[in-house]
Amino acid sequence: MHVFRARFTAVVLAVNVAVTGCSSGAAEPTQAPTPPVAPALATGATARVFVPADADPGPALPAAGIHSVITENLEAPRWFLQTPTVDGLEAFNTLVATELEDTRARFVAEHPGADTAVFNSRWQLAQRSGPWITVSVTQETFAGAGWNSEFTSYVANVETLGASTTARLVEPGKLQQLVEITAAAITKLQGRAPLRDGETWPAAIGTQLARSLVPDADGDLLVQVGSGILTAYADGAFIVEIPHQEAMSLLTADGAAWLAVGIDEQEPAALPEALEETPTPEPAETPTSEADLSTLQPTPVAPSAEQPAPGTEVDCEAVACVALTFDDGPGRHTNRLLDTLRDAGVPATFFVLGSAIAGNEATLQRMVSEGHALGNHTWDHPDLTGLSPEQVEEQLRLTTNAIVAATGVAPTSLRPPYGAFVPGQTPSGQLPVVLWDVDTEDWKNRNVGETTKRAVTGAKPGSIILLHDIHPTSVDAVPGIISKLQEAGYVFVTVPTLLGQTEPGAIYYSR
Ligand code: NI
Repeated sequence: MHVFRARFTAVVLAVNVAVTGCSSGAAEPTQAPTPPVAPALATGATARVFVPADADPGPALPAAGIHSVITENLEAPRWFLQTPTVDGLEAFNTLVATELEDTRARFVAEHPGADTAVFNSRWQLAQRSGPWITVSVTQETFAGAGWNSEFTSYVANVETLGASTTARLVEPGKLQQLVEITAAAITKLQGRAPLRDGETWPAAIGTQLARSLVPDADGDLLVQVGSGILTAYADGAFIVEIPHQEAMSLLTADGAAWLAVGIDEQEPAALPEALEETPTPEPAETPTSEADLSTLQPTPVAPSAEQPAPGTEVDCEAVACVALTFDDGPGRHTNRLLDTLRDAGVPATFFVLGSAIAGNEATLQRMVSEGHALGNHTWDHPDLTGLSPEQVEEQLRLTTNAIVAATGVAPTSLRPPYGAFVPGQTPSGQLPVVLWDVDTEDWKNRNVGETTKRAVTGAKPGSIILLHDIHPTSVDAVPGIISKLQEAGYVFVTVPTLLGQTEPGAIYYSR
């Protein structure tokens, strides 16, 4: 967005320079030319304001074969990147991972060490119909002056194995018209014309809008207009709906085929057989160094106790309890973790993302039936301090609803992403806020030995240990953490058992 904004400014300057060049009084301040009045455009398109971090989960489309790879960084500048991958669609996976990683890296480079900067990228399945799969990626960034939203829609065709952004679905000669229609709809909504410097819009705007298309349930075309593209940043982002017939005239033959199948009207075509494990954009793991358990000394406890049989009540007044907590899942390594916990007879607490539940309902059911506790980690991991109370409420409500729909059980606590929230305002009056006193930094070290060491040496009676079940190294560290702490006499319990009676809205770091 910054790049584009710079270009837009350059256009304004070029116009001013041209005017200066024609006048004789070079020292006088130059006057910007009066923008030509745009002729009224006959369009049925309508606009609405996009609500940042609006957690509308959209239609429930079959997500089999489509996965998320999550990476995050909890130190300044903070970022959270959810990257979609589709089984067997290498071109799609490479395109999406490369673009998202480029954007993330650029944000990090532009905001070195900035405490308030946040980059959040998440995706939503927007279409799965016939051979077409469309994934809409929303990026929300905060850089000290409000939130900006940016949208990119990626399309895969299962038959041709092709992948592109939706920009390829628009006739190149129709890009100006796409901008005119979008601008006219926003003008109708706002009652004033969007920024404009000449007869035509810079070509970059057409491309940018064309990259953000999704079909809607009625066969109309939605243009997702990011912050600062057609209006001031302060106006936020918009969704413009172009009626089906009008939209068809803008599209290529492929684009028309894409819009014609709707979002779910045709049976989804089978995904290609993956020849091998689909490569993922997960960063290279630090070589898994075995934890040298013999050197690790947990804080001693008395009395020491044996891990009781699952389901037995534990009195954390009487024995040294400790709680393992896992954030950001469920993910592709969660079931392996559940195997480990089951074999050890150890309960844990999972702070799940609502947006990660679709397709993983069985994993959540397994958590509940095997004695683990569930917590709410929001719908898609926004920094809650940047949201209105209503948006926070929606993040929590949608997630709780998804957990209840999958398991029949409601989450009993909230863990805000990044541990960030506005005390008193944010976390709905209904749930206790559970943070942690032992940070394994597993998301950063990606190292079994380091993660194990931090958990084992950091734990004290009553500790809450922070881990993430989205990282294989974290899952690999769990057997060592369990055996070492059990050896020292600790007993593993869920967060509700550890904390006992809790106050809604109160903040807990440990027992
Ligand atoms: Ni998290």
